[in-house]
Amino acid sequence: MSRARVRWSLSLVALVMPLAAAMPAVLAGDQSAPAPTAVAADAPTYVRDIAPLLNEHCVECHRPGQMAPMSFLTYEATRPWARAIQRQVVGRTMPPWGADPAVGHFANDPSLSADAISTITRWVDAGAPRGEGAPPAPPAAQSDEWRIGTPDLILSMDESFPIPATGIIEYQYFKVPTHLKEDRWVTAVEIRPGEPRAVHHLRIFAQGPERDTRPVPTGREMYCIDEVCGNLEPPLIGWGPNLASVAVGTRPEVYELGSGKLLKAGSVLTLHTHYTSFGEASTDRTRVGLRFAKTPPKVQLKTVSMAQEQFAIPPGDANHVVNASLEFREPVQLHSLGPHAHLRGRSWRFWLQTPDGTRTELLSVPRFDFDWQLHYVFKDPIAVPAGSKLEGTATFDNSPGNVNNPDATATVRWGPLTVDEMMFASVVYSADKK
Ligand code: HEC
Repeated sequence: MSRARVRWSLSLVALVMPLAAAMPAVLAGDQSAPAPTAVAADAPTYVRDIAPLLNEHCVECHRPGQMAPMSFLTYEATRPWARAIQRQVVGRTMPPWGADPAVGHFANDPSLSADAISTITRWVDAGAPRGEGAPPAPPAAQSDEWRIGTPDLILSMDESFPIPATGIIEYQYFKVPTHLKEDRWVTAVEIRPGEPRAVHHLRIFAQGPERDTRPVPTGREMYCIDEVCGNLEPPLIGWGPNLASVAVGTRPEVYELGSGKLLKAGSVLTLHTHYTSFGEASTDRTRVGLRFAKTPPKVQLKTVSMAQEQFAIPPGDANHVVNASLEFREPVQLHSLGPHAHLRGRSWRFWLQTPDGTRTELLSVPRFDFDWQLHYVFKDPIAVPAGSKLEGTATFDNSPGNVNNPDATATVRWGPLTVDEMMFASVVYSADKK
């Protein structure tokens, strides 16, 4: 479950209810900046320097109805959080991003530049002054527009799912038929949770109408699909390829010009949804918007899972290592990686081992955070020669020192519940030739 978010909703309820109306200054409390007495003439101001930064990097989440519990839409709403904002941006915990900057370059990296961090720091140190005039308007609320543009197809869950105010909600699986009469090339996918505060993460799998006739291997056999061979990940067999995923902190998937994912006629989507309660009873009915290419794209994106389901994490072990790998039988381009683990996930690293003996690190997520199921899109796709191996290592913390750990006395194995673990990564690639 999302500990941080639950913590916030509770602490805000506690703070806001008795105090907010009468004494807004109390809310400001220790979060606020020093009083703006002697503002240096060249100090950054909210109107000129800070509002544009918040609009670009923060308000997509920090606005009413979105996932973050505090809004940064106005000076009045933002100022009490000035110190906290400084802390978060200097510590690089906001905006959320997990990749070690020393490894790889990513197209969807939302990190603030060093300049932006310095501007925010100087603003807070100067007392978080407002400045003269009107601040730039924040981007329009996205409640009814789709960020991918008008979808060609909008699908929705059959009915609303009830979210209880408290407690752990186990993973839910919703089937949504596409009713497509012909194959389509998907160029963009947007997942619109009905209740963004409750949808922790959600993955969409697309299953074509033809039944999967591959024999289901047993034990630790390898399986091969198209260009790729890997370990078996039993729970995902029969779900079809991963079409898209949305998590706290991810943007809609829009594929580069000329690339797309094939969605077969008659496909049925499975919405694999992880909800978290947030202190209020509610309901969710998630919608999915799809855009289609008019002509088949040059680059067909495919997704496979790199997984290792054979593990047992001993009780108390703070650093249990689990490895997985995939082999490429044909040359491919690697587009993105999306590591997935549950509450005991601690870190992730990925390497590419090419047949000439070179081993290159592709991605390192030193502090994996279950609250932010991010995927990492390479700025330039990685060329993978035939015979290369993608290797992934995850570490798990099953010690009492892990504040998210629901039970440090359990031996933890692969399973679908949040108290179980998973070790898998979505790997998006395209084949050099078809
Ligand atoms: C992808 C969504 C998202 C984006 C983008 C985002 N935040 Fe947040 N932020 C959250 C959520 C959700 C929380 C609540 C705490 C949590 O779950 O970690 C939060 C919490 C915070 C807090 C309170 C943390 C504390 O413990 O005091 C601050 C301050 C903050 N964010 C600042 C920012 C700033 C500044 C930016 C932009 C530079 C930003 N955030 C961008 C989602 C986001």
